[in-house]
Amino acid sequence: MQKIIAEKTGTPLEEIFGIVSFYAQFALNPKGDVAIAVCLGTACYVKGSGDLIKKIEEKLGVEPGSTTPDGKYTLEATRCIGACGLAPVLTINNDVYGRLTTADLDGILEKYM
Ligand code: FES
Repeated sequence: MQKIIAEKTGTPLEEIFGIVSFYAQFALNPKGDVAIAVCLGTACYVKGSGDLIKKIEEKLGVEPGSTTPDGKYTLEATRCIGACGLAPVLTINNDVYGRLTTADLDGILEKYM
């Protein structure tokens, strides 16, 4: 993909790669249909986001930074998304969920099955 962008824009490939690898909003691999991002910023981590990501890992069988083999779920660990008042926070596609416990996860993930 980076090569196509480099050719179409006339921009050196290494410059495209530098941009894509610097900004977290870009990805080098396709994301799943359901993109789950768990905030591991300080406020969220202190309030238990580490437990959330661990439970999602176990439930979906996917490690942070990867996608399930069927291409359905991508799990990512993110930096602060600016919703610290709702910590711990996770997003699924464009939906934001806050003040979570691991007990909330089954109900939330069920919506995206
Ligand atoms: S630390 Fe998670 S939203 Fe700020």
